[in-house]
Amino acid sequence: MKELEDRIRQDGQVLPGNVLKVNSFLNHQIDPNLMMNMGKEFADHFKEDHITKIVTVESSGIAPAVMTGFQMQVPVVFARKHKSLTLVDHLYTADVYSYTKQTTNTISIDDRFVNADDRLLIIDDFLANGQAVEGLLKIADQAQATVAGVGIVIEKSFQKGAELIQE
Ligand code: G4P
Ligand code: NA
Ligand code: NA
Repeated sequence: MKELEDRIRQDGQVLPGNVLKVNSFLNHQIDPNLMMNMGKEFADHFKEDHITKIVTVESSGIAPAVMTGFQMQVPVVFARKHKSLTLVDHLYTADVYSYTKQTTNTISIDDRFVNADDRLLIIDDFLANGQAVEGLLKIADQAQATVAGVGIVIEKSFQKGAELIQE
């Protein structure tokens, strides 16, 4: 998507360790027009796939996921990384290891919100090592839902996530 590529070149900053800082429009401050255009792009790309629900992981996946859900007129569910007071049992969970932060988070989704008749579109901001997407694949598996596609805003194709997820 040209608009996104231009924006990365204009506002993105490459930090040591191959980290791309894009917190002026994606990871901290959010550009709603750009997010909406990305939502349109994802919705168009997956328009034949009978998507029933968008899933992502909090927090940075939520903005592009919501815009995609708006365009496709389907609900958006974000996996939580922290235990919520009102989210206690009936959960699908998966452990997600972050190579960047060297920590493991247990992500979870309430089992009422993903079902066997769902065709899921996974949306996330970055694909680096693929651990977050893999966690969502495990949750989809537990729910016996179908994953119809994965849409990533910025794929770091030189890291191993893309290959892992394509497999
Ligand atoms: P993975 O999800 O693909 O396995 O990636 P990894 O463990 O390497 O990354 C951990 C976190 O760092 C993820 O966000 C991921 O989106 C983010 N990340 C990876 N590479 C980059 C990068 O080049 N630039 C930026 N800005 N982020 C990157 P997270 O911890 O889930 O955070 P958030 O969603 O709450 O923002
Ligand atoms: Na993320
Ligand atoms: Na992030």
